[in-house]
Amino acid sequence: MPQEINSVAVIGGGYMGAGIAEVSAVAGMPVVVRDLQQFLDGARRRVERSLAGHVKKGRMDEAARDEVLGRISFTSELKDVAGSDLVIEAIPENLDLKLSLMRELDEIVDSDTVIGTNTSSIPIAQLASKVHHPERVVGIHFFSPVPVMKLVEIVVALDTGPETVQLARSYAERLGKHPIQTKDRSGFVVNYLLTTLLISAIRMYEEGFASREDIDDGMRLGAGHPMGPLRLADMVGLDVTYAVCMSLYDEFKRDEFAPPPLLKRMIAAGRLGQKSGRGFYEYGT
Ligand code: 3HC
Repeated sequence: MPQEINSVAVIGGGYMGAGIAEVSAVAGMPVVVRDLQQFLDGARRRVERSLAGHVKKGRMDEAARDEVLGRISFTSELKDVAGSDLVIEAIPENLDLKLSLMRELDEIVDSDTVIGTNTSSIPIAQLASKVHHPERVVGIHFFSPVPVMKLVEIVVALDTGPETVQLARSYAERLGKHPIQTKDRSGFVVNYLLTTLLISAIRMYEEGFASREDIDDGMRLGAGHPMGPLRLADMVGLDVTYAVCMSLYDEFKRDEFAPPPLLKRMIAAGRLGQKSGRGFYEYGT
């Protein structure tokens, strides 16, 4: 095992993956971002846009931005992730995709490379079962937007080794994040609590309790949340919210986690939230 994490590969350059790449490069580490060819430009643009925001707000100068960008390389070749101390997967929340990625990684990376997964709903133990050394697989769960949210959940699966946990914790600290440790149970700590709120808000909206604005203002102004639950569901992605609900429901068999019918219909209609331009609210592209 490496003594510490000094280089990172991120598989998946979507909203979460690009954020993980950005914060790792800002912390001084060389980063490889791997995605399918057609998504690579989007991944690069996500990082550039976010860094441009830091420059605009005076948190970073242009030279520092260029240095950070210079640390990130983008590739469509999975083999290019070999050689990084830590490989984090942040691909879509699809079990088959993640299982087959784990099998491929097992062939490609050294046996002591730490494999992190940013999954929010799939059991880490199931992903770890696809590699020969499951002790180096750990959940490293970031929160959206990654550059802003300070928390990282370190999810310890049945076979995760103590050295792996320590390396993951130190990596999170090096990013300036606060790690908390949790068992490999659906939802971990935060989504277990947060999903109940998001689903309740969707049910209230579906049943016509109040308008979307009033539900959101209620939690923002009455409970001090930075954004209301419907806008938050849009930001997280309604497909991701649904996947988390289903995972919690499957695991605990409790009605409070059952996804509301409206959520399913919105996904079927392609209303995935901010990323598709429309969810509970409308977003300019
Ligand atoms: N990237 C980088 N920086 C961003 C950003 C982004 N996408 N979005 C906002 N920021 C920065 C802004 O630049 C600003 O920085 P400044 O204070 O230095 O000027 C700061 O964040 C605040 O942004 P804004 O003033 O534009 O807007 P808000 O004050 O409303 O903050 C927010 C936006 C940070 C998104 C805030 O509303 C918030 O904290 N919302 C809750 C987010 C949350 O709950 N996330 C967890 C979701 S659950 C999850 O991710 C788990 C998954 O498994 C489902």
